[in-house]
Amino acid sequence: MRKRIIAGNWKMYKKAEEARSFMKELVDTVPASENVETVICPPSLYLYELAEMTKSSTVGIGAQTMHEAKEGAFTGEISPKMLTDIGVGYVILGHSERRQYFNETDEAVNRKVHAAFEYGLTPIVCVGETLEEREAGKTVDIVATQVKKAFEGIADSLAPTAVIAYEPIWAIGTGKTATAENANEVCGAIRNTISELYGKDVADALRIQYGGSVKPANIDELLSMEHIDGALVGGASLEAASFLKLIEAGS
Ligand code: G3H
Repeated sequence: MRKRIIAGNWKMYKKAEEARSFMKELVDTVPASENVETVICPPSLYLYELAEMTKSSTVGIGAQTMHEAKEGAFTGEISPKMLTDIGVGYVILGHSERRQYFNETDEAVNRKVHAAFEYGLTPIVCVGETLEEREAGKTVDIVATQVKKAFEGIADSLAPTAVIAYEPIWAIGTGKTATAENANEVCGAIRNTISELYGKDVADALRIQYGGSVKPANIDELLSMEHIDGALVGGASLEAASFLKLIEAGS
């Protein structure tokens, strides 16, 4: 009942020509599907061109981050208004790399979620625990707190249209994946948190992705889980062949 969403986060990889030819292949190959939504989040430099390329295709484009203000004297930043203006439909918010290296706090993530909705963008809100937190048995508390803070003040009508990506930090780019059962358990806890905040209908409608070393070899098992509605993919989204396999698995 929930449409799956497979999103590729290219992080700070690819030259312009590589981005272009990857997107051409994707646009030519990805069929319209009722079961899966495909999104590419390239470096911001390529957003405009790739959004133009995907205009009449089924592939969506997302930013990897954004500023919360609609405009202003914020050197180097990109606003939600600019993203919408060029045809970007999604934005990743609170990725652990933004939290870790760019001091993105829960409060900033919350302001950005509000801004994303204000400008018609679908936020992909990332949450996840560190290895120490996991080993201390704090995973569910950590992600529940991150979710509650990210959604503070978000209306019931908007909440179900957001996407949450559960990304255990220790599984990102390490080759270590949470077991499908583990990932499902935490995604289920996230759904419970949404249910506490908004009720069961919203919780049933909101899509939750898993992220962290997702690849063709483990996608089927992850997607077979009750609470996992897709994937936020780093490394395996950089090659068209492997990314296409992930989309196929979701279809
Ligand atoms: O946004 C994507 C995640 O950080 C996962 O990255 O698939 O390279 O582990 P990864």
